[in-house]
Amino acid sequence: MAIHDDSPYRKAAAKLPVRFASVPRKRRALLVALLLAIAIFVLFKLITPSQTLLFFLFSPDVAGPYGSEHYPNSGTATNNHHVNDILQFIDPLIGTTNGGHVFPGATLPYGMAKAVADVASPAENAAGFVSDDNPITGFSHMHDSGTGGQPSLGNFPLFVHPGCIDDDYTKCDFSLHDRPLNRVPGSVYASPGYFTVNITNGVRAEMTTTHHAVLYRFSFPGTEKLHFAKGVAPYSPLILVDLVDLMNSRSMGGIQVYPETGRIVGDGRYMPSFGAGHYHAFFCADFKGAKIRKTGTFVSNNATDAKQFLGGVGSGYQIPTGSAGAWIQFERPDSEDLILARVGVSFISVDKACENAEQEIGEDWDFERVEKDAREAWREKLDVVRVDARGTSEELQATFWSGLYRTLLSPQNYTGENPLWNSSEPYFDSFYCIWDSFRAQHPLLTVIDPKAQAEMIRALIDIYRHEGKLPDCRMSFCKGYTQGGSNADVVIADAFIKGLTADIDWKTAYEAVLSDAEIEPQDWGLSGRGNLVSWHERGYIPLNDVDKNGTGPASRSISRGVEYAYNDFCISLLAHGLSKSPSLLGGAAPSSSSSSSSDIQQYHPNISTPTPWTSLTSDITKYHHRGANWRNYWNPTAKDLFRDRSSSPYSPQEQDTPISGQNTSVPGYILQSPFVGFLQPRTLSGTFRYHPTRTCSPIQNQHSCYYDTSLDVYEGSPWLYSFYAPQSMSTLISLMGGAQTFVERLEYYHESGIAYMGNEQSFLTVFQFHYAGRPGLSSKWLRSYVPSMFNASVNGIPGNDDCAMGAFTTWGMGLGVFPVAGQDVYLIVPPFFREVKVRAGMDLKALSSSSSGPMSSRDSKKAKWAVIRTVNFDGEMQGDGSGKPVYIQSAKLNGKRYTRNWITHKFFEKGGLLELVVGPDESKTWGTSTQDLPPSYYEDAKFWDEWERMDREKTERWKEGEAGSEVVDGEY
Ligand SMILES: *[C@@H]1O[C@H](CO)[C@@H](O)[C@H](O)[C@H]1NC(C)=O
Ligand SMILES: *[C@@H]1O[C@H](CO)[C@@H](O)[C@H](O)[C@H]1NC(C)=O
Ligand SMILES: *[C@@H]1O[C@H](CO)[C@@H](O)[C@H](O)[C@H]1NC(C)=O
Repeated sequence: MAIHDDSPYRKAAAKLPVRFASVPRKRRALLVALLLAIAIFVLFKLITPSQTLLFFLFSPDVAGPYGSEHYPNSGTATNNHHVNDILQFIDPLIGTTNGGHVFPGATLPYGMAKAVADVASPAENAAGFVSDDNPITGFSHMHDSGTGGQPSLGNFPLFVHPGCIDDDYTKCDFSLHDRPLNRVPGSVYASPGYFTVNITNGVRAEMTTTHHAVLYRFSFPGTEKLHFAKGVAPYSPLILVDLVDLMNSRSMGGIQVYPETGRIVGDGRYMPSFGAGHYHAFFCADFKGAKIRKTGTFVSNNATDAKQFLGGVGSGYQIPTGSAGAWIQFERPDSEDLILARVGVSFISVDKACENAEQEIGEDWDFERVEKDAREAWREKLDVVRVDARGTSEELQATFWSGLYRTLLSPQNYTGENPLWNSSEPYFDSFYCIWDSFRAQHPLLTVIDPKAQAEMIRALIDIYRHEGKLPDCRMSFCKGYTQGGSNADVVIADAFIKGLTADIDWKTAYEAVLSDAEIEPQDWGLSGRGNLVSWHERGYIPLNDVDKNGTGPASRSISRGVEYAYNDFCISLLAHGLSKSPSLLGGAAPSSSSSSSSDIQQYHPNISTPTPWTSLTSDITKYHHRGANWRNYWNPTAKDLFRDRSSSPYSPQEQDTPISGQNTSVPGYILQSPFVGFLQPRTLSGTFRYHPTRTCSPIQNQHSCYYDTSLDVYEGSPWLYSFYAPQSMSTLISLMGGAQTFVERLEYYHESGIAYMGNEQSFLTVFQFHYAGRPGLSSKWLRSYVPSMFNASVNGIPGNDDCAMGAFTTWGMGLGVFPVAGQDVYLIVPPFFREVKVRAGMDLKALSSSSSGPMSSRDSKKAKWAVIRTVNFDGEMQGDGSGKPVYIQSAKLNGKRYTRNWITHKFFEKGGLLELVVGPDESKTWGTSTQDLPPSYYEDAKFWDEWERMDREKTERWKEGEAGSEVVDGEY
């Protein structure tokens, strides 16, 4: 490690201090104009305090679900009860213990700056803060929320001492190892845009953020002398900045403190939390409120005032604690016993970090203003959903709003901060991971924030453009690990199908999903798919496959297979959609059935592949066929065997029977449930292997199928994956023995402890009763999980959040439907509110700029409310959280009787009124008959006849020379 005083951060120093006079004249004029505009805006706000309300009452075009009528109930749901109080129902601390990994600190929607107190809780502090008793290590400025891997980001923490023992700075604790201090019990408070905690040295820390900068306010007790166990410390605050990150992954770095101004700048190179490679981050911190006494640097716990710069700071390997940084000791603060710290962050440079802080927080350091702006940003974002909460308990309201809030924490908007390539496209990061978020979160953003969702899709496409593949997981500018399929394909198809097409380069988008489907990358553990030769030729991934084209986690043959199949199915839907809108591919109409080689040029410009391209039309067929490949894993004779360990909390169900002839010297009988037929792994010769059906569920070796698993399923059992055929549910239901047996099986799954709601693959299984004509049971099971597992306690989510757990409650509790991601299908369930309305496609800017005058037809089209109303809403039944079932008896859509148990995106896009009449008993008529069921896309009997014939043929061929018999292996 080299330590010099000739700092490379010259520009950052030269820029200080920034005064108005130093701003170029053009920008000065702009600034004046901006201030004027703000003044006018504030004046206007004062004159019409309830502008929004007035606007809805007097703008019939926007308000009514039926076009020109007034919004019914404008006095109730219109106001979210108290428009200004919605944030009071949001508790960011939900999910900050027991593996929830939620980030509870201050941030903006999709904000890059995410400030919170970091806690020394190994395995729990993925997002920095944890609601437990462990000590606080510092306050840092960037985090990820809800992630399952290692702790993410948390670079450059600040730590604050009110004074040092004997007024000797070397007696203050500097290193990560020595400095942690407990929080004061009961002092933690969080709300959107704000976080505070008191630590036991008397310091209170408060923080609020803009998009790329944090404003901290540290308050001190104000007493002349502080008495600590180690001695007496005169009041003279010392603030340090450490180059460490949460994972202690730094491999390089430097830091400089400027003694005259107190500015501290620095950088470091770190590792991503669930991916490969490294990233470079920068910060710029300024302080205000007290005169500077001394400055210096520290390495581990050794501080000096002789050096103001550390360069080439080595890793934790070279510095035992990983800690190295700079510090400032202040005189007693000027007044109010406060010191403010303004910290800008960047992934581009130190100068960009300083610029971010200067531009976004400015020179007034006004904590209240920054906080108010943050709260306003959240209110605006959340204003697209409004509820009539009469009769719904506050706990359920908090569960709902907090869940919705969490879905807007990530992906993070890093537009303008991408050091990897120059592009005018938006850049989003912290897709963490799409495997989790494609199911409920991205479809939710499509409804409540289509502008953001479109930008995220553009970012995905731009990542493909520059890195050659769409990501499945991505954080901190690095490729994350792929867990199953290439599920960005689903996100892209989902957006297309729901009409989110504007400003998106569909030609490249289509190329990107085809690349996933056709071209195996060298390292498919980081993007794309593996075993593609077998996938294309055999239609499944043999568990003993030989893959010469790439490497990756070659296990998981079942779970990857069902996901690849669904990904391919979604590609066929996208191809179908594009064939109807050729202009989106660059103009020329595709030749319909006769595929010519010019089609190849036209639609697949940059792909070279061993598979001959044909045209969109044949792509539709090809990917539709591959979408049926999940069935290749269906072993109709596979039994559900398990050992009845008496210690198991789940006793066998009545239906379960012991299998005969077992060895009773081993404790516990092997039992068999009545359900036969499961997805099972297959060998190269086409024969099935027995994979214990319950392995990787909460009742059997749950943790045997995590990232490094050698099993054929990932983070879920064959029981779970056997339900994953959302494209072909009618086929699955008949394979499972018909609707009645399917329902029994799905109920058994939820009753027996096999279901694990802490992971996103389980979400759809709550609602799949719809496909068997029993939509009431979806409502019943939803209410068995909410609020028992999804609630408003700090432990209020069943697994790590992934910013996706909240999407489950937003849909199920609020919007009254659950999406089948990738399809234009939403399954209807009764919400937990009397009435909910959501304004899809709302462009707030267009809306507010036109609110003073008549709206243009374009704006009004964007602003239609989709209203979900519960008729016979009974707080006792729906709003008290007792989990009592409630069933839809009948429904009306826009005033007309509606018997289907699903709706399409048109409802959200165009607005409308969905009235759901509910009661305490399951209806025998609503949504139960065949024509009321959601679509299954493989209902053609001839398709399956042909499929079975080919399957027999192939299996015969592979079997030659290889004896195949069913092998039972593994552990029950
Ligand atoms: C936290 O610190 C502030 C400021 O010193 C003080 O007013 C407040 O009472 C403290 N809170 C708790 C719970 O100790
Ligand atoms: C800290 O200082 C002590 C005493 O001068 C020295 O022995 C030790 O090596 C130093 N530690 C580091 C990490 O520089
Ligand atoms: C993302 O950030 C860019 C640049 O700051 C901004 O223009 C864009 O509106 C942001 N997008 C969203 C959805 O907030």
